Amino acid sequence: MALDRALIFLGPPGAGKGTQAKRVAARCQVPHLSTGDMFRDAVSRGTELGRLAKPIMERGELVPDEIVMGMVQERLARPDCAHGFVFDGFPRTIAQAERLDAILKKQGFGLPLVVEFRLCEAAIIRRLAGRWTCAVGGEIYNINEQPPRVPGVCDRDGGKLVQRADDKPEVVKERLASYERHTKPLAEYYRREGALEVIDASASVEMVDCALGEILKRAQGRDGHL
Ligand code: AP5
Repeated sequence: MALDRALIFLGPPGAGKGTQAKRVAARCQVPHLSTGDMFRDAVSRGTELGRLAKPIMERGELVPDEIVMGMVQERLARPDCAHGFVFDGFPRTIAQAERLDAILKKQGFGLPLVVEFRLCEAAIIRRLAGRWTCAVGGEIYNINEQPPRVPGVCDRDGGKLVQRADDKPEVVKERLASYERHTKPLAEYYRREGALEVIDASASVEMVDCALGEILKRAQGRDGHL
């Protein structure tokens, strides 16, 4: 399936955006752009960006728009983004969405296709408490739903599985509050643009994957492009 546009996965923490974004990006052979992963990478490398983002992320707050936009703009200028990309965790504020609209227009892309993942708070808390991520390749696991074959070890590359610092219950509470306040209004923003699809994220990984496939198929033009 050829993408040729921006696909945006919108949804609360733990809704499964990253899990599905990796799959769709691989299927469409376009980059998976997770601003959270970009910040975590900067933190682990100890760059200036990482030093700035670390305390903000540990509090469960949002990194300021200017910093996020600089990082995203730089990433989108790379050649691998020429035929579209899957955003996971971006945009997160109306200001970011407006800036993204201008960038997409300038780069010759049409309207993005936005998928809102919906999941109740109890399920979010359960999923985040059970999430383990590969420190090497970023593969996502869940000790309850998608456990690795060997505890603590990534099936794919043998990397060590770690828990995210911001998955502590008190930080998750802040992240959820931040989602309600800053990010949820984006659903209405994109609904008005006519680009919003909604998905029930409480289903299994395979069922959500299937529902996403249906959305993408519906959005596909006769030339096979989305
Ligand atoms: P970020 O990394 O983007 O975190 P998030 O949006 O809070 O989302 P998560 O990664 O926690 O969840 P997910 O929806 O990807 O779920 P996953 O697939 O892992 O952001 C982190 C921080 O960075 C922010 O708080 C902020 O500080 C900063 N930041 C990032 N972007 C920013 C921006 N644009 N502006 C400002 N600040 C920004 O799945 C979760 C678990 O559930 C896993 O264990 C998985 O195995 C399991 N699971 C997934 N799907 C299913 C399913 N269908 N059924 C059962 N289990 C499932």
